[in-house]
Amino acid sequence: MPKAVVPGSFDPVTLGHLDVVTRTAALFDEVVVAVLVNESKRALFSVQERIDMIQRSTAATANVSVMSFSGLLTDFCAQQEASVIVKGLRAPADLDIELQMAHMNTHLSGVETLLLPTSPSLSFVSSSLVKEVVRFGGDISGLVPADVRDRLQGRATAGREEEKRER
Ligand code: PNS
Repeated sequence: MPKAVVPGSFDPVTLGHLDVVTRTAALFDEVVVAVLVNESKRALFSVQERIDMIQRSTAATANVSVMSFSGLLTDFCAQQEASVIVKGLRAPADLDIELQMAHMNTHLSGVETLLLPTSPSLSFVSSSLVKEVVRFGGDISGLVPADVRDRLQGRATAGREEEKRER
């Protein structure tokens, strides 16, 4: 199969995301991981940091590249000549929004969406929960790559020190 786009915010990438990316890479000739540039949403990591983290984690998979995009995902897919979007599906609760987006994207450009069930062992992992756990000193090993864990722990420590100074 030709080319697929795996889009997301990836703030930061988790092992759940990477599970979906590597399984997509086994199904398609080429995979572009597309990091959304969203000015209106405050992200913990810059787009470049997010791209770096994904590139490090996917370096061993030759047919994966990582890019940023802004605007409509369908425009990015057209630019990349990718006819398929792949999204991970963690739980039934994800389905409502994913179906709505899949239908909208097909309506806009005819691009198809494949929903790939996330491995059950990672189905509870999300970027936002991981950020919350690390903020309160919890252990996130096994949920994100080691370098992502270290960066998150660094941010959490810096945040706590700043809070102390402000008190
Ligand atoms: O990781 P996320 O935040 O769930 O990813 C959502 C994403 C990036 C796939 C979605 O917000 C998106 O496609 N944004 C681009 C703007 C767009 O095309 N909107 C219409 C989607 S139907």
